[in-house]
Amino acid sequence: MKRRPGVNPRLSLLPPYLFVALDRKRAAAKAQGRDIISLGIGDPDLPTPSFIVSELARAAADPSNHRYPEGRGSAEFRRAAAAFMARKYGVELDPEREVTALIGSKEGIGHLPLALAGPGGTVYAPDLGYPVYASSAVLAGARTVTFPLRERAGFLPDFDAKPLAGPGRPGVLFMNYPNNPTGARCPAGTFDAAIRWARGRGSWLAHDAAYAEAFLDGRRPPSLLSRPGAMGCGIEFHSLSKTFNMTGWRVGWACGCSRAVAALAEVKSNLDSGVFSAVQSAAAAALSQGDAAADAMRARIAGRRRLAVPLLEGAGWTVFPSDATFYLWCRPPVRMTSAACAERMLDEADVLATPGNGFGKGGEGWVRFALTTGEDRLKEAFARVSRLRW
Ligand SMILES: Cc1ncc(COP(=O)(O)O)c(C=O)c1O
Repeated sequence: MKRRPGVNPRLSLLPPYLFVALDRKRAAAKAQGRDIISLGIGDPDLPTPSFIVSELARAAADPSNHRYPEGRGSAEFRRAAAAFMARKYGVELDPEREVTALIGSKEGIGHLPLALAGPGGTVYAPDLGYPVYASSAVLAGARTVTFPLRERAGFLPDFDAKPLAGPGRPGVLFMNYPNNPTGARCPAGTFDAAIRWARGRGSWLAHDAAYAEAFLDGRRPPSLLSRPGAMGCGIEFHSLSKTFNMTGWRVGWACGCSRAVAALAEVKSNLDSGVFSAVQSAAAAALSQGDAAADAMRARIAGRRRLAVPLLEGAGWTVFPSDATFYLWCRPPVRMTSAACAERMLDEADVLATPGNGFGKGGEGWVRFALTTGEDRLKEAFARVSRLRW
């Protein structure tokens, strides 16, 4: 661990942010003039649907949107988010007290340990998982307890096994389904077990639903908040990024238990001034008129998955079966470390994938491909990968 004089020592406890390191590697390879196919970062390749861009342009020209936005988000945006939750997930929310706008769901997730845990508090983070859960705990001075997600358990938490079983410290437990990086889905029964666990320990559940709309088989995943008891202990994070190709816009929302939402909003009101009001107007339009766009996203990912999985399996790879998210969670034909596998693909096939160990110890031996490029490039990428002799 490298100490940096004059810098918050907690920064030295953070692992290098996964995608920063990857992007550096890709940039260096590109600078050498190589044709790199990037299946690393989960950033959709297509533009935001034009009706959303038009609404942004209209709202951006309205001077009333040029002032500081309302703290928890505009009434219009919060009403649109609440209506979306009711229509898609059967979850009834009070937009005043149970919804807050976020500068992307990552921002809300990153601030949550500050709101609900703080120094001496406990954050339960999945291994493997989106790195922000554990990093935000470190920054908030909370202690992190990691709990395993393993293939044999369908990458679901086991509340009857260590470290979650039995008495323990109260805290905030992060879940994320459909899951990045594995694509696993969470049955309603596992949410119910999580709610029992949280209530038994006086704890919070934070469900990251960034990929909730990326289901590919017509079966919409449940919201944590639709389960009995969840509104007393749960907060759920939603994002427009992947559903509407809006990663660059930085907008999402948190919803659920009013005490948790209020605490998060309080942290935010001390640190940021919210989402540009015109972006909120465009996001509200996306949520209320974007069903066809979301259907198109699902059809596109399903098509890419149908193309990619047989190509990889035909080349001896193991692909974790999934019908959600745009990620393929895979093991190469021979046993090797994630880093060695990703490095060989970049060096010898000019294909960038994410090494699974970047998501935690449990990801060692796996790599993640993001299907965020068109079908021709995907074919080319997996043809190159198939030609590698391991
Ligand atoms: C699991 C997960 N949660 C949250 C996010 C953050 O999404 P955003 O901040 O764009 O809403 C991501 C982004 O990749 C993610 O993979």
